[in-house]
Amino acid sequence: MPLITKGVRGTRDVLPGESHELRYVERTALETAEAFGYSEIRTPVFEATELFERSVGDTTDVVQKEMYTFFDKGGRSITLRPEGTAGAARACLEHGLLAEALPCKVSYITKCYRYEKPQAGRYREFSQFGVECFGAALPAADAELIALAMEIFSVLSITSYRVEINSIGCPECRKRYLEALRAYFQASEAELCETCKGRLEKNPMRILDCKSPVCAKIAAEAPTVLEYICEECATHFAGVKSLLDALELPYTVNPRIVRGLDYYTRTVFEFVSELPETQGLVFGGGGRYDGLIEELGGQHTPSLGFGLGLERMWLQLQALKAPLPAPNRCELYIAAMNAAALEKAAQLASAVRSDGWHVQYDIVGRSLKAQMKFADKINARCTLVLGDDELKNQRAKLKDMATGEEELVTLTDFPEEYEQIMLRRVQKELMESLGGEEILGGV
Ligand code: HAM
Repeated sequence: MPLITKGVRGTRDVLPGESHELRYVERTALETAEAFGYSEIRTPVFEATELFERSVGDTTDVVQKEMYTFFDKGGRSITLRPEGTAGAARACLEHGLLAEALPCKVSYITKCYRYEKPQAGRYREFSQFGVECFGAALPAADAELIALAMEIFSVLSITSYRVEINSIGCPECRKRYLEALRAYFQASEAELCETCKGRLEKNPMRILDCKSPVCAKIAAEAPTVLEYICEECATHFAGVKSLLDALELPYTVNPRIVRGLDYYTRTVFEFVSELPETQGLVFGGGGRYDGLIEELGGQHTPSLGFGLGLERMWLQLQALKAPLPAPNRCELYIAAMNAAALEKAAQLASAVRSDGWHVQYDIVGRSLKAQMKFADKINARCTLVLGDDELKNQRAKLKDMATGEEELVTLTDFPEEYEQIMLRRVQKELMESLGGEEILGGV
């Protein structure tokens, strides 16, 4: 019978043979952020629609075209989060974290949902690693944030990318810029898409990141916000650049970055791939959003953060052939020839597992031959065969599946003996991989 349905368009299954790679990226990001003072926050996958309309902005592509919004059974308008900042800000505000010692630094891994046209590296359900730092006004905060993202890339061995930064000013200096933009776009109003015609009055900046090819072509020649920023914003931006220089972190100023979300003020930045396979792919971005907390009902709290696309970082790692951990391997497979042996296998497995080893035994009722074939298929490192003789003598052979080497072990002391044998092997393998003789010679 054919499958009744397949995964929904724009979604991606991460299978057991690959999930460990994604987990490694997630863990590296979370742990690196911990060293910068960030603690993990987990917020619901859905929020009241109004939260995104007010923060991301009701003239953005995300809100106007891409949100998964529905009414729940109580008649409330609910939206699956299209990004992580709004939920994190709402939660920190709601739980009083912004009334405590600032800055408040939170990190998260979230699934996000945007109804976009799927293509390589663009999904309708995707994952983000993000950080948000609430209550930090100095340019040092912006530089530290960029340094954190770059440290994550460095630990993961992600190279071949550029950091693009810009300043999009504050609401004050943006007033003059919006006037200039309006004048510019009015000249080609008839050619703009219907959504952008509506944006012309309300928020012409959003025309700059419209995905329609005609709007994008017109937008390419539009005036840039950097030409209009006020003195305070310019000083802040100069401060960020000089700190990045002091930290020897390379960047380029791209005055065309505006970001697709309304909450940004002043510094914005993006991480752009320079690999031939993923040329131009933006795998992360963020910036300052000094007005967001007030917009959500809190006190004025200068804040900033970034979001990294986990699938896109993973694509980068694969394209770079960067070192990734091997999948979790079965260390020991215990084959059992009868019911009594299976009982013993379960007991031994339980003892060895509690020392942290990956152990399996037969739970489907296979013949001994089929059990050994299965052990081979799952690439078990060692096998232990249990039958009547082994139970009677309380001794069995531990076999290394790669070398065929066998060692007699005592079942009564098995967990300890097994542990010692395995540690010896791991040590030997490590020595060999590091060029054992030199190391031993140096000891
Ligand atoms: P964003 O630029 O919209 O920013 O998304 C951040 C990252 O999520 C992008 O750079 C990209 O890697 C990934 N991403 C976005 N859309 C998709 C998609 N459809 N498929 C796959 N990956 C995608 C934000 O979301 C902000 N909340 C970031 C931020 C945090 N700013 C301040 N704090």
